[in-house]
Amino acid sequence: MSNEESKQPAAPPAASAAKPAAKPATASVAKDVKVKEMPRRSFLNWMTLAWTAFTASMLAAGTATARFMFPNVLFEPPSTFKAGFPNEIQIGQVDERFKPRGVWLVRDSEGIFALSTVCTHLGCTPNWLEGEQKFKCPCHGSGYYKDGINFEGPTPRPLERFAISLADDGQILVDKGKKFQFEKGEWINPQSKLNL
Ligand code: FES
Repeated sequence: MSNEESKQPAAPPAASAAKPAAKPATASVAKDVKVKEMPRRSFLNWMTLAWTAFTASMLAAGTATARFMFPNVLFEPPSTFKAGFPNEIQIGQVDERFKPRGVWLVRDSEGIFALSTVCTHLGCTPNWLEGEQKFKCPCHGSGYYKDGINFEGPTPRPLERFAISLADDGQILVDKGKKFQFEKGEWINPQSKLNL
């Protein structure tokens, strides 16, 4: 080999021995996008959950506030009501027109009284049995005479009476806000009976 030949630059390596070609740029970008998208999706999910929780808590707080501002109130019918004219009830009659309001009007030879329809045993509603001339409780069998005095069954005391009077227009006025109990001697109170 001559000196000139030895000074020639080395030939470039063959194509087969070249370094592996770099991967296409598009694949690399797609991978990057995937890597970046995952956290964004998680973030959105987290935001959705946070908003849902926030909305739920606001609704709960609003409901609690509304309950505080407008508490449950039981609107009961007024305790005093007019119950027709005295001559609409015959002597010896038990008037059941006002049973839905918790009152029987009973007329005897002296006047009219308003009996409570609540059994004094455990609070059921007795029935008036015209044929037997008695009030009979369907729950445990307590029985009361027409005047409200108990005579059978487990009840320990008579029915109660409500205050009764005449209104300005001549109608019977019943006041369920005032009760009179026989066993306390309260039936002698003039308000417990409307004498006619
Ligand atoms: S509730 Fe009337 S007899 Fe018991």
